[in-house]
Amino acid sequence: MLYTVFSMTTAEIRQKFLKYYEEQGHKVIPSAPLVPENDPTTLFTGSGMQPLVPYLLGEPHPQGKRLVNSQKSFRSQDIDDIGDNRHTTFFEMLGNWSLGDYFKQEQLPFVFNFLTEELNIDPKKLFVTVFRGDEKTGIEKDTESIELWKNLFKEKGIEALDTDLINEEEAGKRGVKAGERIFAYDTKKNWWSRSGVPEKMPFGEPGGPDSEIFYEFDFVVHDNKFGENCHPNCDCGRFLEIGNSVFMEYWRSEKGFEKLPQKNVDFGGGLERFVAITENTNDIFQIDTLKGIIETLEKLSGKNYKDESLTPAFRIIADHVRSSVFLIGDGVLPSNSEQGYFVRRLLRRAIRFSDKLGIENSGLSELVSPLLEFYKDAYPETFDKKAFIVEEIKKEEEKFRKTLRDGQKELSKRLEKGNLSGEDAFLLFSTYGFPVEITEEIAKEKGISIDKESFNSEFKKHQDLSRAGSEQKFKGGLGDTSEKSLQYHTATHLLQQALRDVLGHTVSQKGSNITPERLRLDFAFERKMTDEEKKRVEEIVNQKINEALPVQNIVMSKENAEETGALHFFGEKYGDQVSIYFVGKDLATAFSKEYCGGPHVKNTSELIGTFKIAKEEAVSAGVRRIKAVLE
Ligand code: SER
Repeated sequence: MLYTVFSMTTAEIRQKFLKYYEEQGHKVIPSAPLVPENDPTTLFTGSGMQPLVPYLLGEPHPQGKRLVNSQKSFRSQDIDDIGDNRHTTFFEMLGNWSLGDYFKQEQLPFVFNFLTEELNIDPKKLFVTVFRGDEKTGIEKDTESIELWKNLFKEKGIEALDTDLINEEEAGKRGVKAGERIFAYDTKKNWWSRSGVPEKMPFGEPGGPDSEIFYEFDFVVHDNKFGENCHPNCDCGRFLEIGNSVFMEYWRSEKGFEKLPQKNVDFGGGLERFVAITENTNDIFQIDTLKGIIETLEKLSGKNYKDESLTPAFRIIADHVRSSVFLIGDGVLPSNSEQGYFVRRLLRRAIRFSDKLGIENSGLSELVSPLLEFYKDAYPETFDKKAFIVEEIKKEEEKFRKTLRDGQKELSKRLEKGNLSGEDAFLLFSTYGFPVEITEEIAKEKGISIDKESFNSEFKKHQDLSRAGSEQKFKGGLGDTSEKSLQYHTATHLLQQALRDVLGHTVSQKGSNITPERLRLDFAFERKMTDEEKKRVEEIVNQKINEALPVQNIVMSKENAEETGALHFFGEKYGDQVSIYFVGKDLATAFSKEYCGGPHVKNTSELIGTFKIAKEEAVSAGVRRIKAVLE
């Protein structure tokens, strides 16, 4: 067969995918918003399966057992890496799911046929990987998928050999031998869960072996900066991962890896990567949706995308503006906290790079309209907010320009003194958002150089602090240290112990979030609480408040701390010295003892109001959420 590939637009491929799976009995479900609605574990929706976790764990989905969609996704951890030809922070993930219905035997032909028959991709360009088995979890090599792949390639007249590539390092040494097309890798490459490898998965999390598909750009010459030899998981760019079928049949329990009540399939394919390969281009930024922005930027700047010294700047602006458009469309406005901070960072970074292209007043808001034209049918909820998005981007541009002007004045003042310390440069960066490179260039004009080492050490201090801050914020759960938040923090400890007294000792904290208005506690428990149980828990907490018990802190070695029986839920997070907060006259008779960094009130009598459970609901299978207030 001759594989003549006709390039297709993003909209066409999206539509083809949905239709193809609909014909195989799947129901099309809408894309969930970029900010998860009911998931405290993550800030953004980063894959199609994320909103489906409860159903993958066994809850029945109202649309049935076969689902398909195109999911808007955003991955914030990639921001600093954007600039190459294939990574973007926003992307659309095509997904199909079997919730306890079909498994490997149907899934691999589904995806292979979609690529080779519907998109007309030459199967000779496709290479696949499978799970090689793992001693620690006791989960065996996926020989079934190997056999299935062999047969699929055979049907296309291709003899596909398989081999064990062990891990990335070994694979780089060995490379690929003639005829090999199926490669088995370890858990780092062929196991999928939201938290990565099996040992990183929290209890209750689903995951499983996966099988990835790669496309080979034979015109890309391997770069041995990435290893002696090339192989599908090599980062040189010759192979591009285009899709991943996760065979999600396990979950991590305290005993090890157990089978889920149902075997699931979770497939994710990069829509834009599909478009790129139908065009046989290895540059994602050359496909329709992004090309439009790049061309507008070329017009605005008078510069050429093909000028290699500027290509990364074009890509960064295009990526960051698109992500901001979709995030703002889903209600995330630029700010200094939580999700909003990422939009601010994306826009400000885009502005700095548009300065690099010499675009007057950034021009970012002018990119919104040409971009959204490509998405009006697929994401009308974003398209309809066009005017609002443009306004928000303009406002942020103005704010940042003002910040930069203020920074400029501050810099001039400091330069007049004739020197500029690393601390000064850092202050300009942290307070005025003044990039150190810009500071350096201006200072250079005056013949002044900056002590980069001391700037870097200030920068590192700041990073450590903000990392500690966000860990505290997102894991420890305390949003601020206002009086009311402190009361709620102590109330959370009382609640946790009361729950254990009423529901038993399997109750353990999975997450917590405290604001001055309420507390929120997620805990492991299998079922809905009865009204009786809720009432009893409230009574216990209120009784402890009335007893006016002291809340005390003690720091001790980890070994001694373990002997006290104090509760702790995040294992290895604690160092050698452990801080314990206990509620009661002494540690031995305390009502509640927990590993905790504080802060708390000094006495339970400081909790103002009556403790009341406002809501009790499921977050995912086996995890309940309580919202409670003092009123
Ligand atoms: N969840 C898998 C991924 O994100 C497949 O959908 O790659």
